[in-house]
This record gives sequence, C-alpha cells and structure tokens, in this order.
Amino acid sequence: MDSSPHPALRIDISRLSSRLAELAAIGAIDGTEGCARLALTEEDKAGRDLVVAWMRDLDLAITIDGIGNVVGVMAGEIDGPPVMCGSHIDTVRTGGRYDGNLGVLAGLEVVESLRAAGVTPHRPLAVAFFTDEEGARFPPDMLGSLVYVGGMPLEEALDIEGIDGAILGSELERIGYAGVAPLPGLVPHAFVELHVEQGPVLEVEGITVGAVESVQGISWTEVEVTGQSNHAGTTPMSMRRDPGVVAAACMQFARELALELGGTQVSTVGRVNLHPNLVNVVPASATFTVDLRNTDEQLLQEAERRFHEFLAAAAVAENCTVETKTLARFEPVVFDPSVVDLVESTAAGLGYSVKRMPSGAGHDAQMMARVCPTAMVFTPSRDGISHNPAEYTSPEDLEAGANVLLHTMLSLSQSAT
Ligand code: GLV
Ligand code: MN
Ligand code: MN
Repeated sequence: MDSSPHPALRIDISRLSSRLAELAAIGAIDGTEGCARLALTEEDKAGRDLVVAWMRDLDLAITIDGIGNVVGVMAGEIDGPPVMCGSHIDTVRTGGRYDGNLGVLAGLEVVESLRAAGVTPHRPLAVAFFTDEEGARFPPDMLGSLVYVGGMPLEEALDIEGIDGAILGSELERIGYAGVAPLPGLVPHAFVELHVEQGPVLEVEGITVGAVESVQGISWTEVEVTGQSNHAGTTPMSMRRDPGVVAAACMQFARELALELGGTQVSTVGRVNLHPNLVNVVPASATFTVDLRNTDEQLLQEAERRFHEFLAAAAVAENCTVETKTLARFEPVVFDPSVVDLVESTAAGLGYSVKRMPSGAGHDAQMMARVCPTAMVFTPSRDGISHNPAEYTSPEDLEAGANVLLHTMLSLSQSAT
C-alpha cells in the first residue's frame, strides 16, 4: 500500500454492483440471483457484447484473439507491457453472478475510478476476459488463458468437441468472437486476478481478503464403461454385465479415496450418463467424469493411480470394458511471492484483515503465472457456496476486494520489475 501512488483513491461499489447485476441478468436463472452462460452459447455472446460495450465506453483499446479472449487496455504514462487483471465471464450451467465476473467487472471499475479521478497510471493497465474458463462445456478448464500463454496450440483448442457435440471453433465463429490478435498473447508486466473464494475459509475465520499463494493441481478424467444392454426382468443377476454398477462402485471409491488420502485431496463425480437411461433396460454404457485435486503433485498422482486401478478391477469384476480420456491435467501452481506480498501489504494498508491461502478452484491466473509475476485476491463467499446460483458475497467484501485490486495494480504499474 505504501507503494501505491494514489493511496486515497477508492472504487465506487454502487457502479460495480450495478454492472454485476446487469451482466447477471443475461442468462438469469429464474427465481435466483445466479446465471447460466456456458462458454460460447448465445448467453455467453450477449454477456461478451455487454462487457465489450462497457470497455468501449471506457475508451479502452480492445483486441480479440483467435480463441476469443478479449483484452482492453488503458494507456499509461509510458508504453510497454501493461499490468493486467481479469478473469472470465462464462459460467457453469448453475452459476452464481460473482465467479469470474467479479474479476472482470472490478477491473473495469478500477479503470473507471482512475478516469473519474483524472489519474493516468504509469504503465498501461489491461482488463481481460478469457474464453471458457469453466471448461464445463468444452474441457479443459482455463482453456482461453492456456492458449493465451502458449500452453495449447490454437488449432488443437478450436477442434475441441463440447459435451453437446458442438465444435469450439465453429461456436466461436458463430458468436463472432474468433478474433485476429496474435497468440500466444502479449506478455503483461504482471497479472492480478480478483475472485470470490468459492470456499468457506475466509468467512469462517472472519477475514476479509485472501492473498492467494497457490492453486492446487487438477485432474479431470472421462470414463466410459461398456457392458451388455439387456432386459431388466429376464436377465438373471448372475448373468449381467452392468456398466451402471461399475460407475456406482467408482463413485463410492472416489469418495473413500479422498477421505483416506486426507489433507487437501478432494474428489468429485459431477457428470454421469447411463445409456439408454430407461427404467427397464440394463444400461449398455455408463459415462462419468472424475475430478481429483490436491495441492501436492505426488499425492495427486497417487490418487490418479489408485483410482485407475480400482476402475480396472471393478470393470473386470462386472465383465465390462473401459475407456478413459483425460479432459484436464494441470499441476499445482505457486504464485510469485513478491506479488503475493504486495496483495497482503496492500490489503493490510487499506485496513482489511488478510491471510495468505491456497486456492481450491482453478483460475486463469494459474495460466498467466507461466509467463509473468502473478497473484490473486480472494473475497469471502457466504456459506462457502459457489457453482450454485446461491453464491453470494456482500457489497462490503466486494468493495474491499476491488480496492485491493486497484492499489495492487497501481503499485505494480509503478514498479520497475
Ligand atoms: C474451474 O474453474 C474449476 O475450478 O473447476
Ligand atoms: Mn472462476
Ligand atoms: Mn467457476
């Protein structure tokens, strides 16, 4: 905070809250505060159009790259790589209004606060929103930022097939966001992402700001088990080859595995499909996903190994066959300690309680950390709820997070390195 060149400056929470509400009205889920804007759908397009219109109103220089990432730059006193913030505006199908959206709209609020105060930052500032962070429609997650940093060739990303059979590149063209800005993208001077915690820690401990030090490793696998579809009434139990039973055993095992490994290990089976999914038919196939996460790469590998061993044995026991596909695999990431320190001292200097912590969710910042000094700012999530329309963060906490973002960006825009 000492290093912020305009320590008295504050963001305007009413402007930020109205933008959050206006964006959340697109894809709004009836009777809730949440929204559904899966990547590259009509709703995502409408959300993008709104945010781009706001970027234009703020006179940002806008570029769109080949994977549809959008970056708006505010000129600084000098040219050169900007201090970038940002996140994503796609949501899961049952999303809240804060996940991702906060980091992007708080970035616009930083720009608007500076414009209103007549302040020109030393280095340029940039606000980005990255395509398909959620990966819920087109896996893997953090896809746009992964391509931005050169972690996946554009052509490979454009060929990804969605859970609805759509092809990513065609959907991007259809919604008009296949841009021409070069990839990998411009390397920023530094990157900071403001995000809701999406977990219970800050609220339980009564702390306003998280200075995020690391992101846990993520492993997503899609499993397809094939058996013998048959009549539910006539097929003796001893003669069945039921892939649904294998899926059920794996779901149970995934939970037991996480409990047994303990520590930060978590496991989730979040998508399950039986085919043909009829009351009186032994299923022909079961397709399900497994999401395993751990802050420790070795332990994550152990969890993967043990899950695959169990899956193979369960399939043999039911005389079924198995195919697996890796949907996402990212190692744990440690953020730049000097940017984490800056987030922590900025929050403390503004009078907010703050603690250093890891992130359980994946974030675009973990990709940006591959190319530039990066850290994140967390604000509390009520009841630790996220990926749920009930997700909520109080205006006071949003304001605190956005003020920390503002002054962290201003300090970074002054810094030589
Ligand atoms: C994506 O953001 C995830 O953490 O699942
Ligand atoms: Mn998010
Ligand atoms: Mn999310």
